[in-house]
Amino acid sequence: MLQLGVNIDHIATLRQARGGSEPDLLSGAVIAEKAGADGITVHLREDRRHIQDVDVFELRKRVKTKLNLEMAVSEEIVGIALKLKPHNVCMVPEKRQELTTEGGLDVCARKKKISEAVKRLRKKKIIVSLFIDPELKQVKAAGEVGADCVELHTGAYANAGTQRLKGKELARLRKSAELAVNLGLVLNAGHGLDYKNVTPVAGICGMNELNIGHSIISRAITVGLENAVKEMKNLLKVR
Ligand code: PXP
Repeated sequence: MLQLGVNIDHIATLRQARGGSEPDLLSGAVIAEKAGADGITVHLREDRRHIQDVDVFELRKRVKTKLNLEMAVSEEIVGIALKLKPHNVCMVPEKRQELTTEGGLDVCARKKKISEAVKRLRKKKIIVSLFIDPELKQVKAAGEVGADCVELHTGAYANAGTQRLKGKELARLRKSAELAVNLGLVLNAGHGLDYKNVTPVAGICGMNELNIGHSIISRAITVGLENAVKEMKNLLKVR
């Protein structure tokens, strides 16, 4: 069955806005799991704008499903991941000024650095995913550097302004998905997915997991986190 990874970064965004301890990140993780999340995802950004080091180590102890750490391919963060030993990591590109992760990792251009990091992480039995744009050359490169999974960037699909463009982006996602599955890579996707646009992506053949954050945490403000996760989980039952 299609799995849901709930990204809880924005609980920490709200907490950091006042610098205190509310809302409590760990409670958020527990509620999301209770509501049916198959995994908890957090991004320890180099600028520590939301998730902090102490959060990831506490989550590692408390998360019962699986902890997925989104991370830049930097020496510092790779070092933390090796100590933390989350169940999965997802390598993402990172720019200081961006509001959120804006594009996929250019695996083709950074093959050597990425393959070294993949090797070190896999040696510790951490499952490694690469967050890439839905481009065949990036999927192929992800296979070549030894990743276990790819997470296809659904941002362009989510932001497409017309039905025609949405269809085009969905076709790109399907093509990349097919190649990933043929190469034996586990297929995940995420970014910008919400209650209105998730169904076609959930229906892509071979899809294993969707990682969703902003829309679920936003919906939680009106219906509560438990309901927000349950509603999304129900939408994923398309197969
Ligand atoms: N997947 C990856 C790799 C991401 O960087 C993000 C954003 O942190 C997400 C999924 C979730 O995106 P959104 O918050 O738009 O659902």
